[in-house]
Amino acid sequence: MENALFDKFDRPLRDLRISVTDRCNFRCGYCMPEEIFGPDFNFLSSDKILSFDEIERLADIFVTLGVKKLRITGGEPLLRRNLPDLIYRLKQIDGVEDIGLTTNGSLLKKFAADLFKAGLSRVTVSLDSLDEERFALMNGNRGNVKQVLDGIEAAAQAGMNVKINMVVQKGKNDQDVLPMAKYFKEKKHILRFIEYMDVGNSNGWRLDDVFSKQDILNKIGKTMPLEQIEPNYTGEVATRYRYQYSDQEIGIISSVTDSFCSTCSRARISAEGKLYTCLFAAKGFDLRELLRSGESSHSIAAAIKEIWSSRVDRYSDDRKSNTKSGEAPKVEMSHIGG
Ligand code: GTP
Ligand code: 5AD
Ligand code: SF4
Ligand code: SF4
Repeated sequence: MENALFDKFDRPLRDLRISVTDRCNFRCGYCMPEEIFGPDFNFLSSDKILSFDEIERLADIFVTLGVKKLRITGGEPLLRRNLPDLIYRLKQIDGVEDIGLTTNGSLLKKFAADLFKAGLSRVTVSLDSLDEERFALMNGNRGNVKQVLDGIEAAAQAGMNVKINMVVQKGKNDQDVLPMAKYFKEKKHILRFIEYMDVGNSNGWRLDDVFSKQDILNKIGKTMPLEQIEPNYTGEVATRYRYQYSDQEIGIISSVTDSFCSTCSRARISAEGKLYTCLFAAKGFDLRELLRSGESSHSIAAAIKEIWSSRVDRYSDDRKSNTKSGEAPKVEMSHIGG
């Protein structure tokens, strides 16, 4: 394999998830609970956030190390001014085969056409309920379901492939699993159910609150039988299932009960330019410092190589033997966008 860079468990560096802001207009309890991310919360000031030039330069370097897939995340990435310009620039990089965007959908209607024009061909929209009351309960009372559904519609209309992410929390929105499945089957968008994870330090995660992959399969399978299908590629995060007698599929992202660290090829860069080699990492490596102190691309690449080749992260695999949620501090989800 050309350009391949492998870690200690022989996992190549293939995907780069780039957070473009640590801010969000929602306050989902599992990610940025209002009690902690309140009005006085100290978000990054704009001089601390990587500029588009810096992001483009890093993406360029990562591509020389084997990255083929980019994903833009936040916080909420559409809060970053002129985001379509960044997409356009990243799209021009030779070697980038795929760019995705993960958004809460609230601003998608406004930006869908520009994003598509800039070269974005697919988008993933987070939506945890179709019921306005539970939607509000899940996301800290912001926005509304219609706004998100309009965003989804606008993205599809513009020509983008749309996937939906639903985080399922037991006793909070598990009654929405079936209505969501039915709705998006009809709409022909792939819905992915995500097991509630112990990311960050703020969400008070307990294993008991996880609505598991098996729970989800049972719930849907009773009315709409499913069969597992092959992954699209090695290391795909979601396990795929197809509704019987239909070509419509769903995905389940089971980081808690059926983890997938053994094929994890993802690096993450926070909005302030720190490199994380795991979603649950305690510490990142400061790439911004290298960029701003005038280091050559060659020496930045060498630093990244060093980090990736000594990588031993496998948090979710280890969690199975320690289900209390790590006591060690972890990076916040809103810094690295999942
Ligand atoms: P595709 O390219 O469409 O397959 O995107 P994706 O599933 O990689 O991206 P998305 O941003 O939609 O992520 C879906 C969910 O999977 C989010 O909750 C992520 O936090 C979670 N996820 C993605 N990558 C990892 C990972 O490496 N480890 C864990 N534990 N969860 C992950
Ligand atoms: N557990 C599972 N998924 C989460 N996300 C954010 N926080 C969590 C969590 N604690 C999801 C968002 C979004 C994706 C990037 O990550 O809903 O869809
Ligand atoms: Fe915002 Fe997404 Fe986190 Fe919800 S999960 S608070 S929408 S960044
Ligand atoms: Fe990768 Fe860490 Fe997620 Fe495992 S827990 S799949 S190593 S990001």
